[in-house]
Amino acid sequence: MKDTFNREIRYLRLSITELCNLRCRYCMPADGVEKKEHSEMLTEDEMVMAVEACASLGVNKLRITGGEPLVKKNVISICDRTAAVPGIKEVCITTNGVLLPKLAGDLKAAGVKRLNISLDTLEPAKYEYITRIGKLDDALKGIETAFDAGFEKIKINSVLIGGFNDDEIENFVRLTEKWPVEVRFIELMPMYDSGDFKEASFIKNEEVLKRVPDLVSLGDDGSGGVARLYRLPGAQGTVGLISPVSAHFCRTCNRIRLTADGKFKPCLHSSLEYDIRGMTKEEMTEQIKKVIMSKPEKHEELSYTKRSEANRNMNRIGG
Ligand code: GTP
Ligand code: 5AD
Ligand code: SF4
Repeated sequence: MKDTFNREIRYLRLSITELCNLRCRYCMPADGVEKKEHSEMLTEDEMVMAVEACASLGVNKLRITGGEPLVKKNVISICDRTAAVPGIKEVCITTNGVLLPKLAGDLKAAGVKRLNISLDTLEPAKYEYITRIGKLDDALKGIETAFDAGFEKIKINSVLIGGFNDDEIENFVRLTEKWPVEVRFIELMPMYDSGDFKEASFIKNEEVLKRVPDLVSLGDDGSGGVARLYRLPGAQGTVGLISPVSAHFCRTCNRIRLTADGKFKPCLHSSLEYDIRGMTKEEMTEQIKKVIMSKPEKHEELSYTKRSEANRNMNRIGG
């Protein structure tokens, strides 16, 4: 289905939990999230029904997010059932990778095609700092398992933070020589109360091109994705720049989001939310049409002094 700005909505991001086994500083508060009652969250059946309703309106791509989706006890069943929904061509997951050694094989068997794995630094002490509780080795083991499990494509998501990991840009780019991955730099987005970042932390993706001038532009990958792609000559993998702050990509946005507590969001950075808990599939379908028709043309500019208007942190939206 098309929205009022002639954008065909094809992509649903479904957050299946707000909980996470890490506490990344830009994503959630230090003490994590308060546990909510089951009754406040979508059930698995409601999630599947929502995916069916979206598919009936033309959505063909599903990304399962969180929090950390792999901490959800029924994640495999959710993947299995949503991958079987007629019209859904691709189910992907965004994960911090820590639980992949345990789950990669089952995810693959359940029909998950691609994984995006978050990794903001290649240095153990810095990984522990940014995730507050994580161990770099666990994430790296997760990435290795993902390779072994044979997913179609693996992307590494790295949130670029001035003074924290900009000195590692070259090292991240060089991963594409070693691995056939897409390494993506994401500009830090100022969310609700995510972190105490200084102005100097918010740097533009242009910094990547300044530090690695050898990168050759490939344009986008033609899939309606949000990254601009580059390649280091001779490298197996590619580099992607995702620039929501310096150059928002709203004009081609093809996505809607569903939060773990049952709210459809027409836009990541808007406070507009549409509840679907307790609805029948028909009611959900009508509600999703409203969601699509209310998609704003673009979000307000984001900056150090101008936070996202979404009244949630990232772990409660799903990225
Ligand atoms: P228990 O039956 O309580 O052991 O939970 P579970 O083992 O079935 O796991 P589940 O993933 O359903 O959730 C574990 C705990 O996290 C429960 O207390 C849930 O209420 C809570 N919980 C589940 N999902 C979410 C979520 O998205 N956000 C928040 N804040 N809490 C959640
Ligand atoms: N700014 C930019 N990216 C973020 N992510 C989470 N919070 C933020 C933020 N404030 C990233 C995660 C994950 C992806 C879904 O979103 O690192 O890779
Ligand atoms: Fe967890 Fe991902 Fe948020 Fe980090 S960014 S705290 S891994 S949900």
